[in-house]
Amino acid sequence: MYQHLRPTWAEINLDNIAHNVQAIKQRLQPGCEIMAVVKADAYGHGAPQVARTALEAGATRLAVSILDEACELRGAGLSAPILVMGYTPAAQGGLAASQDISLTVYERQQALALVQAAQAAGFPLKVHLKVDTGMGRLGVQPDEAAALASWLHGLAGCQLEGIFTHLAKADAADPSPTYLQLQRFELALAQLQQAGISVPLVHAANSAAAMRFPSSQFSAVRLGLALYGLYPNAQLRERDFDLRPAMTLNTTIAQAKWLPANNPVSYGGRFVTQRPSYIITLPFGYADGFSRALSGKGSVLVSGHKVPLIGAVCMDQCMADATEVPEAQVGDPVVIWGNSQGQSITVDDIAAILDTISYEVVTLVSKRVPRVYFRHGQVSELRTLLQHTTAIAGENCRVTF
Ligand SMILES: Cc1ncc(COP(=O)(O)O)c(C=O)c1O
Repeated sequence: MYQHLRPTWAEINLDNIAHNVQAIKQRLQPGCEIMAVVKADAYGHGAPQVARTALEAGATRLAVSILDEACELRGAGLSAPILVMGYTPAAQGGLAASQDISLTVYERQQALALVQAAQAAGFPLKVHLKVDTGMGRLGVQPDEAAALASWLHGLAGCQLEGIFTHLAKADAADPSPTYLQLQRFELALAQLQQAGISVPLVHAANSAAAMRFPSSQFSAVRLGLALYGLYPNAQLRERDFDLRPAMTLNTTIAQAKWLPANNPVSYGGRFVTQRPSYIITLPFGYADGFSRALSGKGSVLVSGHKVPLIGAVCMDQCMADATEVPEAQVGDPVVIWGNSQGQSITVDDIAAILDTISYEVVTLVSKRVPRVYFRHGQVSELRTLLQHTTAIAGENCRVTF
């Protein structure tokens, strides 16, 4: 428990991030680089903290979705190569180039406009050509890739640093769509080679592909989910990859009280106690990223007991029925996901209730939830709304246990 912090917080175990990088790295072909995917604030875990840790543990590159995210990393002092994998408007080409940030290109006009903006700012622009081999999202068609690469190669002010594709079904039981995408990508690479163009960095694999398809590794893999200790599917959990979840979400009891039978709880009164019930109010809600769709569906852990959430999840609070744990008191810790005395609730459990994927559950944890970082087994840093990033030592926002 951390005095002075809001009593709902996420703990981010950076040792687990480092472990996950190393666990994947040892399964990659020699020389294959890891690009740590830290978009969306590192899937809710905190981009600068995760990026720094991943690089220390053996990743060599970073990837984000938008330029703002890349600039945040540069601002935090990270000098590793960064790729923006998403769409960057032409007007941002100069800023990207001035910060030595690589951009994704897939059409002549789009690439030209970015390179011209970079040149106007006085910098060369590094680009990665994206090939759409079956995702149907950003990318040049595979049979047009060699011509576009050739043109980019000759374009003044443009450095063709990489070529990549993205796999749509690397986590699916049926591997054949992934093999088909890889085949299309390899065909495009062969055409590039025939045209005499060599591109330093070739990448295709996300976490699932890096773990399942050695032929997808090329010269780098783009590791997102696995970095955070989450598995792309249940089968990969059963294979011997020892990934460790990096985030737990915790809260404390704000009020604990007995309510009589027939007492409605929360907005709309859709939950009504059936018996005298020990109801705990918890200071977190959908504004913290805990979806309202979990109303009456999820549970939390109180002293190792799974207690059901009841009634509607409110914006800032929710209620649980702790009748089975009548010793629970105001201020006691409650685990939203993580472990408590041998019991656990996982991000995947919550994703299953919501009929979504773990990516969304962690990414939704909002910025008003403080992040407490652990490194080498100790609190190393915290991030709160009060003080964006505060090194523990010597600051007035000390934490105590
Ligand atoms: C283009 C691209 N590459 C790599 C990744 C990382 O995927 P994963 O988190 O499954 O490892 C993503 C994430 O969505 C992505 O959009």
